[in-house]
Amino acid sequence: MNLSHDFFKQLMNDPEIRTVLDDKSLEAKERNNFNPPLCDVFRKPMTQLEKGNHNFFIDPEAKRQLPDIINSKVQYVTEGNTDDTHANEQFHKKRRIGIAFSGGPSPGGHNVIAGIFDAAKKANPDSVIIGFLMGLDGVIESEAIELTKEDVDHYRNLGGFTIIKTGRAKINSPEKLRLSRQTCKDLQLDALVIIGGDDSNTNAAFLAQELIKDGIQVIGVPKTIDGDVQVRDEDGNVLCAISFGFHSASRSYSQQISHLCSDGGSDVKYWHVCKVMGRVASHIALEAALQTHANMTLIGEDLINYVDKKRLANSQHNNEIDFDAYGVTLRQLSKIVSQAIVRRARYGKNNGILIIPEGILEFINEIQKFIIKLNTIIGDYNNTHQKDFHTAFPTLNDKLNYLKSIAEKNEPYSIWNLHDNEMFNEIPEFFREDLLMERDTHGNFPFSLVETERVLMGLVDDYLKELYHKGLFKLGIARSYFKKIMNNSDLNPQEYGPILFENYTNSNHHFLLLKKSIVSSSDLKKELIQTEKLLEDNDIHPALLKIFNKSIPNFKTRLHFYGYDGRGSNPTRFDCMYAYNLGNTAFSLIANGITGQMAAVKNLEKGFTHWEPIGIPLAPLMHLEERKGKLSLVMEKSIVDTKSPAFQVVKKFREKWLAANDLPECYRHPAPIRFTGDTEEDRPITLILNGSNYLKKILTKE
Ligand code: FBP
Repeated sequence: MNLSHDFFKQLMNDPEIRTVLDDKSLEAKERNNFNPPLCDVFRKPMTQLEKGNHNFFIDPEAKRQLPDIINSKVQYVTEGNTDDTHANEQFHKKRRIGIAFSGGPSPGGHNVIAGIFDAAKKANPDSVIIGFLMGLDGVIESEAIELTKEDVDHYRNLGGFTIIKTGRAKINSPEKLRLSRQTCKDLQLDALVIIGGDDSNTNAAFLAQELIKDGIQVIGVPKTIDGDVQVRDEDGNVLCAISFGFHSASRSYSQQISHLCSDGGSDVKYWHVCKVMGRVASHIALEAALQTHANMTLIGEDLINYVDKKRLANSQHNNEIDFDAYGVTLRQLSKIVSQAIVRRARYGKNNGILIIPEGILEFINEIQKFIIKLNTIIGDYNNTHQKDFHTAFPTLNDKLNYLKSIAEKNEPYSIWNLHDNEMFNEIPEFFREDLLMERDTHGNFPFSLVETERVLMGLVDDYLKELYHKGLFKLGIARSYFKKIMNNSDLNPQEYGPILFENYTNSNHHFLLLKKSIVSSSDLKKELIQTEKLLEDNDIHPALLKIFNKSIPNFKTRLHFYGYDGRGSNPTRFDCMYAYNLGNTAFSLIANGITGQMAAVKNLEKGFTHWEPIGIPLAPLMHLEERKGKLSLVMEKSIVDTKSPAFQVVKKFREKWLAANDLPECYRHPAPIRFTGDTEEDRPITLILNGSNYLKKILTKE
């Protein structure tokens, strides 16, 4: 349709139409006008820093590679002394501050920028804030814009990293480091703030080390929906409980999942399998479990503790050690899921909600081995050849032939042997293709692109069929329903009940289970003939057939992936406030001359009135880890602690939420993401539980 210019003009003359057609909704405008509360200290004219008394285990390699920032201490932001002329001048001097997002978007990013912008302009209205475009590529290639108040105001309290975009570039070579340093010098930056996850904060540490000689400060900000940037000191004190964006993404996924709980609980015909983002750690899945009380949530970190008791007993019997008895395989996991489905089915529940963290593969024995081996093979290939692995071997067949050629060399200690090759070729083709996908610039495996849920549910489907044919997977039939159908057909339930069901005589059982031996209608006929309820040449009574058909569990799944959608959601009030205070903290660290630290807010788990803005030294957080086949100094990711109160609670509620009984479902419906309203929760449930002294006390007593 060709709408003329006049038509648009006419349209916009009507205030109501103008409002509803505006690119910015009323909610977005209201968000823009929201002023997130600040920690008290940021309302003072200036701040200063006080060293905290915290120790860290230091990796000798961090000492070697980051000598100028390794000794920096945790800093507490406190009220500044305006009478101290030198400090006052330093704090209020005109500054040029560069900001870059790095990695995947995370709700709240715009508020970090707003926090830095407002604090810097409050300290000195002539200060300049420069945004690097498209992540660290913007720093390497000197692509930057000066951010104005209008730019910042436009995005306040809104999701995405739209204002300057983001990217996954890494400053991982001397040349990129040189170019980044040149950019910062050319732009006459006083400081650079990198808003990113573990890899990006690693970059921030190395940049801080590099730029210290130029007097340019580098500050990191803990961002990632994955929630795996968490910091404790050597004594276990929590310094950073979670990264910003985790709460919003988890709430967004939880809301979608809770909608499925409503739909699935009404339609009662599907098992909804919901894969949620979170590259390796299962923090999001854990929070989603707490938010929705879904019937079953798999937590990757929990699977490490799995022990195959049969294997263990066998090996003990033979006086051998079987390392494969520990940790779960994909097939064992499919059996665990299947058992839950079977148990619910016994109570007539043919539906359910299963949450799977996208990083679960990392915790599955054979898959983890393949991922590590293939990471190394691809990394080695890229390090030693001109063409990269994926260009050299474009098709799956090419890649498989290359793997085969390594295996056939049959070298001792080879990373890929004939047994690996054989096992790998047993995996479905689409999954082999997934496991060989291109790694990102950090050498990370692209978990979100893998159809884990499809692989797992394929195996579940196969196992359920096996159980069905053995007569072990049946849908329970309500006793009242059975009685009604029999009575309506003038058949005596007392006569037929014991013939059909294994638990008829137990009147406490409200759901009746067809006998294990009755798997098909001919089995049913046999049973009726044997018990002299039917003659050989007669047909089964339609009412009995109806009951038989009702006992067949028609297992159907619907697969969902909650990832990029929630990552782009608007921030919750918690994330609006947290990110805005992080921005203010980053500025306080800069204005007080700090470098090589990550801005953080302590006591997030205790609620806003307890929040304490701090700086955490980055260098002590670094440790050696295998990346792309070689050891690199990187910031450690935090995975779910299976001893944590939050995990323990989920574990204790598992049976209740599975609801494999004749009780109603326990689904919980979290509110939509909001930044106003009295009922909006003030922090993630995981944080509340992990921060609860009461809970810690009861759990230690057990
Ligand atoms: P960050 O660690 O950069 O915050 O990104 C996390 C994440 O959203 C993961 O949950 C997900 O596995 C990954 O990014 C997806 O990466 P991509 O955006 O490259 O597809």
